Amino acid sequence: MAGILERYRNFYDFPADFPIISLNEGNTPLIPAPKISAEVSRLSGQPDVQVFLKFEGLNPTGSFKDRGMTYAVSKAVADGHTHIICASTGNTSAAAAAYGARAGLKTLIILPGGKVALGKLSQAIMYGAAIVEIDGNFDQALDIVRALGETGKVCVVNSINPYRLQGQKTGAFELCDVLGDAPDDLYIPVGNAGNISAYWMGFKEYADKGISSKRPRMCGYQAAGAAPIVHGHKIEKPETLATAIRIGNPASWQLAEAARDDSGGRIDCVTDPQIVAAYQFLASREGVLCEPSSAASVAGLFKAASLSQVQANSTIVCVLTGNGLKDPDSAIEYGNPQRAQLPADSDQVAAFFGL
Ligand code: F0G
Repeated sequence: MAGILERYRNFYDFPADFPIISLNEGNTPLIPAPKISAEVSRLSGQPDVQVFLKFEGLNPTGSFKDRGMTYAVSKAVADGHTHIICASTGNTSAAAAAYGARAGLKTLIILPGGKVALGKLSQAIMYGAAIVEIDGNFDQALDIVRALGETGKVCVVNSINPYRLQGQKTGAFELCDVLGDAPDDLYIPVGNAGNISAYWMGFKEYADKGISSKRPRMCGYQAAGAAPIVHGHKIEKPETLATAIRIGNPASWQLAEAARDDSGGRIDCVTDPQIVAAYQFLASREGVLCEPSSAASVAGLFKAASLSQVQANSTIVCVLTGNGLKDPDSAIEYGNPQRAQLPADSDQVAAFFGL
């Protein structure tokens, strides 16, 4: 299927000869989650809660960033840029490097040293980006990107580039298309706060055009050690094992607050143990391996259920923003290994399996 700019062309005003750089992103599955639904009903005491997972890990570079990057990079090409640049906790850089490679642009990446999952770093290396790891966090990397962007020599493709959010709003379109209407609640991880803002734009646009009959409550979840919006102030030294959302000064802070307030939703936080529990539940009970940061949406839903914030008969979508294969170290650390190394002997193997 064509990528998001072709499929949702009517929602954009780019010219007919716009140079679309696409890897056929989008069209990701909306997977029913019966075990999570049952757990939410159990925790909340509310019957008939239907939970779906929007699995963005099945995009071409394994995260939702591809939806925004197709537009940002196409626009960079249209504007005659030769270089794109971004700061990243990993996924933005993987997407930028892939779309940059496809467009024939040079991609420059600034990463928080030692805090990017292995798969994401491998992607950026293979796609051929130039990579600087700083002795600092994402927020400091983004400050450097903003400064370099002002030289006019490079096109910034972080979500401060408005085309990123315009592309990412198609996640909301797709799930409304599949459900036949907007859900009642959307649960989504919050880091730099672009994606919650983009989904809200998408839901508003569908409702304004009469394609959907309602707008969901936007329920965003930060990691407890990196929860500036929840606390109402910047966090100088954000810390969480969910490295993708290890951010203390989100660029789209105000937009995210507006999404929360206009939708009657909430932005709350979940602890690292709650994130790990949801990460394990998703993989071992639903068969869906996302990365730890993505599991913040489901951890948030479990928390909301225990706080009686979930309503009976509601349809809920949790956005799983990235693929678990990007972070094999976390899978190995937090998985529940049932492994053994044995001689090539069927009796011993059978004994280990309990057969
Ligand atoms: N989930 C994943 C897997 C992410 O990579 C990110 C952000 C988020 C959630 C949060 O989304 O920033 O729009 O609120 N990753 C960025 C990056 C910061 O550099 O890849 P957000």
